[in-house]
Amino acid sequence: MEDLRILNIDIEESNVFFRNWRKSYPLINRGEGVYLYDTEEKRYLDAIGGMFVVTIGYGVTEVAEAIGAQAQKLCFLNNIRFTNEPQELLARNLVEKAPTGMDRVFFVTSGSGANEVAFQIARIYHRERGKSSKYRFIAQWHNYYGYSIAAISMSGDFTTRRTLGVEPYALKFPHIQAPHCYQCPFGLTYPSCQLTCANELALTIEREGADSIAAFIATPIIGGTGGAIVPPPGYYEKIREICNFYDILFIVDEVITGLGRLGKNFGIEHWDAIPDIITLGKTLGSGYASIGAVMLQKHIWDTFVNSEIPGTPLGFTYSGHPTSCAGALAVQNYLAKHNLVERAEVMGNYLKGELKKLAEREPLIGDVRGRGLFLGIEFVQDRETRKPFPRSTKLQEKIVKGALDQGVIVAGRIGTAKGIDGDHISICPPLIITESECDEIVAALEASIKQVKKSLDLVTA
Ligand SMILES: Cc1ncc(COP(=O)(O)O)c(C=O)c1O
Repeated sequence: MEDLRILNIDIEESNVFFRNWRKSYPLINRGEGVYLYDTEEKRYLDAIGGMFVVTIGYGVTEVAEAIGAQAQKLCFLNNIRFTNEPQELLARNLVEKAPTGMDRVFFVTSGSGANEVAFQIARIYHRERGKSSKYRFIAQWHNYYGYSIAAISMSGDFTTRRTLGVEPYALKFPHIQAPHCYQCPFGLTYPSCQLTCANELALTIEREGADSIAAFIATPIIGGTGGAIVPPPGYYEKIREICNFYDILFIVDEVITGLGRLGKNFGIEHWDAIPDIITLGKTLGSGYASIGAVMLQKHIWDTFVNSEIPGTPLGFTYSGHPTSCAGALAVQNYLAKHNLVERAEVMGNYLKGELKKLAEREPLIGDVRGRGLFLGIEFVQDRETRKPFPRSTKLQEKIVKGALDQGVIVAGRIGTAKGIDGDHISICPPLIITESECDEIVAALEASIKQVKKSLDLVTA
C-alpha cells in the first residue's frame, strides 16, 4: 500500500466519496485524551468529541484490549439464533442505570438505526393493542434523528431538510416548535408562557388525529442542530402528561445526551418524566464501537410477549455484535470506574462559567447554554433585540474556522433564530477534560471571535 503520510488528502487523488467535495481533508493519525494529532503531530483539541461521540477520550488501552480480546474469542454471532456474553452484560449494565421500568435492550449499529427500530417497535406496539392506524411520529423543529427514512422524517433540522431535499420520500410527520426560550418562537417569556411550546403537542395531536399518532420523539436538550437548547423546567413533565392522555408513546433520543454527557446517566433525568423508549448511539461506544440501542419499558416488551406472533424480523446482521458490545461494555465500565458522569457535571459547570465570563467581554455572544459537558453559544448582532446576523455573514463558519486555526475543534450550525438566520456553536468535549484544557477552548474561541470581528469590521467591544 502506498504511504499516505501526507498532511492533506486531495479529494481528486482519493477513492473516498467525501461528504464535502469542495475541500481537502487533513489526515488525522491518532488520538490521545482530548487531542487529535495529524501526520505532522500538529495537535487539535477535540472540543466536540469527534461528532458528539467520544466521552472517555481517545486512546484508552483497556477498551482497545477488551475489543481485541473479544474479536479473538468470538468476533461475530448470528443474533437470530444465539446470544453472547457481552450483549447480555451490556444490556444488564444499561438497564441497571436506566430510568425506572426500563427492562429490555435491542442492539443496533447506529443512532439512525436505533430511531428506525424505535419507529417499528412503536408501530407494532400499537398494532398489537388493536390500534394499527397509529403509525406517525411527532417531533420538534430543529432536532435531528439520523439519515434513515423514518429518522429523516422525524428530523426537523432545516438545513438537513433543505440540503437533502427530503421530499418526496420523507414520511409526513408533523413537527412542533422547539422549546427555545432564548428565541421563543411564540415571542413569549418563561414562566408566564405557561409552556405554550409543550402545549403545542396537544394541539398538533388534536389537529392530526390521535388515532394516527404513535409517538412523540425528542432529545433531552437539542444538541448540535440547536446548540444545546435546554427546555424550561416542567417541559417534559407536561409532554409526558400529554402523551399519556392521548395514548402516545414518549420516546427520548439519548444518542448524544445519554450515558454521562449531561452529568446524569440519561439526560432526561434532569426532568421528572420517564420515557417509554430510549434510543442510544454515539456515546454508547464512545467511538470505540459502532453501536446503538433501543431501550424499552416493560409494558412495551409485554405487548410483544403477549402477542400471537412469536418473534420479530426486526434487526440488523450486526445487532448484538459481540465485539461491539464488548467495546461498549468496557466504555461503560471505564465511565463508572473514573466517575466521569459526575465529572461531566463539575467540568461542565466550570466551562460554562468561563464561557459566561467570555460573554461579558464579547457582546457578539447572546446566549451561553447547555447542561453538563454539552454546551452551546448563540451569536447575535444585538443583545437587546437578539437579532441574528444575516446568513450571508457566515458568522458561525468563520468562528469555527478561526477556532480550528487556534487548534480547537468546535461544531457550528445555523437556523436557531427564525428561519435560516441564527448562528451557534456546540462544545462537547470528552468528559475527561481538565480545567486547563477548558481554558484552551475558551482562549481559542476568544481569539477567533476577535479575529472575525476584525474581518467584519465590527466594533462591538
Ligand atoms: C440526536 C441524534 N440522534 C440520532 C443521530 C443519528 O446517529 P447516527 O449518525 O449514528 O446514525 C444523531 C446524529 O448526529 C443525533 O445527533
